[in-house]
Amino acid sequence: MNYRHAFHAGNFADVVKHLALAAVLLHLRKKDAAFAVIDSHAGRGRYDLSGAEAQRTGEAEGGIARLASLKDSGGALGEYLALASDGASYPGSPLIAAALLRPQDRLVAIEKHPEEAGQLKAALIRTPRAQVEVADGYRRFGAHLPPKERRGVVLIDPPFEASDEFEAMARAFADAYRRFATGIYLLWFPIKSAAEANAFVGEVLGAGVKKALRMDIAIDVPPSPDGKARLAAAGLIVVNPPFGFADEMRAALGQVAPLLGARCTVSELAGEGAG
Ligand SMILES: C[S@@+](CC[C@H](N)C(=O)[O-])C[C@H]1O[C@@H](n2cnc3c(N)ncnc32)[C@H](O)[C@@H]1O
Repeated sequence: MNYRHAFHAGNFADVVKHLALAAVLLHLRKKDAAFAVIDSHAGRGRYDLSGAEAQRTGEAEGGIARLASLKDSGGALGEYLALASDGASYPGSPLIAAALLRPQDRLVAIEKHPEEAGQLKAALIRTPRAQVEVADGYRRFGAHLPPKERRGVVLIDPPFEASDEFEAMARAFADAYRRFATGIYLLWFPIKSAAEANAFVGEVLGAGVKKALRMDIAIDVPPSPDGKARLAAAGLIVVNPPFGFADEMRAALGQVAPLLGARCTVSELAGEGAG
């Protein structure tokens, strides 16, 4: 295992991903009917921002740490920041989901690496509606689809360590979408090459997706002291975005982007307003 999210927790890319997740969950909560959250690559759940990993990269300093002045915002941005900006630690996707579950809702969080999964189980110990599976997310998450609730969100957020991760993710998504076409999906991806990212988006839409949008964020990355190339751009495909989601994200990112020194776009890929 090379990838450890502790180096990146709370960075610019996490901000967009977790803001979108919070917005989707708030939307699902508008109806009393239960929903399920399936997180295929869940991570450890809580990240210590004073720990060695976070301090080594300083990525949270350029991300969540810059957003304190927005904490009284309304809507999904305010909700996300209330959960994420205690200054000492940062909640990953399963903890954000757990915080927004109601008694009738549930979370399935899948994490392959036993140490990360063990931390996650401990972090979710007081959330009985959360189930942690130590497994390969790609092989396992389809078994939960469609969820018995027939409503919910699937987050696919792999580490992009493998050279064929884009292909694996597109394949896994197509299979999931066949099983649960009405679900909301959040698919995170790094942008190292625009052509590669665009091809991936094309693959995802090729599964027959009727409604989707894409959120992009890019920053200017300072040269890294260790000489390693740092990620400067990331995207999120949102399949079946809730009504009003694009406008809410545009407004929220309009507040967030100047503080992060980022360029953000939200574009319709399929469905109303696309093209
Ligand atoms: C980008 S991190 C996830 C971050 C998390 N979703 C969040 O937003 O807080 C990717 C995680 O996937 C785990 N992982 C790697 N390969 C996996 C696999 N095949 N199945 C499930 N988890 C995997 C890694 O250990 C890592 O914790």
